Amino acid sequence: MKRQKFIAGNWKMNGGLQANAELLSAIGEGLRAQAPACRVAVAVPMPYLAQVRQLLAGGAIELGAQDVSRHEKGAFTGETSAAMLAEFGVRHCLVGHSERRQYHGEADAVVAAKAQRLLVHGITPIVCVGETLGEREAGQTDAVVARQLGAVLALLGSDAARIAVAYEPVWAIGTGRTATPEQAQQVHAALRAQLAGAQPGAANVPLLYGGSMNAANAADLLAQPDIDGGLIGGAALKAPDFLKIIGSTHDL
Ligand code: PGA
Repeated sequence: MKRQKFIAGNWKMNGGLQANAELLSAIGEGLRAQAPACRVAVAVPMPYLAQVRQLLAGGAIELGAQDVSRHEKGAFTGETSAAMLAEFGVRHCLVGHSERRQYHGEADAVVAAKAQRLLVHGITPIVCVGETLGEREAGQTDAVVARQLGAVLALLGSDAARIAVAYEPVWAIGTGRTATPEQAQQVHAALRAQLAGAQPGAANVPLLYGGSMNAANAADLLAQPDIDGGLIGGAALKAPDFLKIIGSTHDL
């Protein structure tokens, strides 16, 4: 089955009112010149959801967020609920990004609970998995990503067909060191098999690659049979680079 490619930008903790407007105006202009052959989303910091929602209105780019509370509502100071994200038109939300796992102690069970909470509100969780350099060198890559994804699949049951997954090797994030297309494909194939084994309907969930994907390497990565798109950090902050990555899906 041919799956539509999906390119998502992860702005992380970058941006500002003016910078966001300039970036999205340049991306919008580029997409008007050449309609995208893929789905496109941007995951923006919480305070800018309202602004970016307005800037994206009527266009092809979908709104995303980078994190969500695992709780429905209540005394959780500083948290943002899935219901709130839904009210602002958020369609996708990252969960379990390695920076959350590493700096905020997010365990697999928390990531799974967040994914479940998002689905209650009709938002697609983009579940991020990936091994550290030490884990790769110890030959643990498959076991680590299987454990991370497995926690989500176990909690979601048949709803697993409604998620997206991003494989982001930690050693490739923001380092300029990308997984080779073969390395990425190998992990994606294993994730695909795990998804299909857990829930037949989940065999075709979008599997994105992330980690130093850029205008130069995107086409080769995206040409792999089990790589359905990209989760783009640094290069999503530069309109020409982001547009080139989007444009590389035209020939696939
Ligand atoms: P990068 O980040 O493209 O800057 O490596 C990807 C990510 O962390 O989502």
